[in-house]
Amino acid sequence: MITTREFICAAAWHMLEQPSLRARFLIAPEEERYEMLHEILRVEPIVANLYRQATADIALESNGQRVTIPQGSKINVHIHSSNSDQKVVGEQPLAICPGREIKGTNIPGMLMSFGDGTHRCPGAYIAIQETDIFLQRLLAIDSLHMVRKPSVSWNEMIAAYELRYLTVAI
Ligand code: HEM
Repeated sequence: MITTREFICAAAWHMLEQPSLRARFLIAPEEERYEMLHEILRVEPIVANLYRQATADIALESNGQRVTIPQGSKINVHIHSSNSDQKVVGEQPLAICPGREIKGTNIPGMLMSFGDGTHRCPGAYIAIQETDIFLQRLLAIDSLHMVRKPSVSWNEMIAAYELRYLTVAI
């Protein structure tokens, strides 16, 4: 999946730039490694916007205010701002901080990066496992280092960033 390809690149970029993150990833047990990958995905969601159309009036309460989204409205869910809501993720929401406390019930560590509800990504587990298997082996090469940061572009069709030309050497 192209989303997984971008995520592998984003996670590798963070770990290649942050030796302590890389070192921890290489010795951490599987559960902790997955937690680290979820946290990176929270900060770097691949898909930035999800679009929906309200099939009925939706009554919501937000910051003490009642709001009704009328039937037929187009809804644009901003994943970056949802994922960095300080009420849920606490201080320094844009910092990668594996193990941070997520406040709320039934909120996964990557928050909205795999969507939610009936269309939530069915490939979420494969994506994390695939990334983990690949990065475990790649980053274990001691002399591996980055010689070129990736260039960042935008894919309008899936509202997602694209990383190209990350170059490593040993
Ligand atoms: C890090 C990697 C991935 C990310 C960030 C990601 C993200 C997402 C998101 C945000 C959605 C929800 C779309 C919506 O609500 O409109 C979605 C749906 C979906 N994803 Fe993924 N995905 C990833 C990997 C994968 C993989 C590996 C597979 C398949 C093996 C997969 C298959 C799908 C499918 C089939 C849907 C549509 C589900 C539906 O509409 O019911 N994804 N993904």
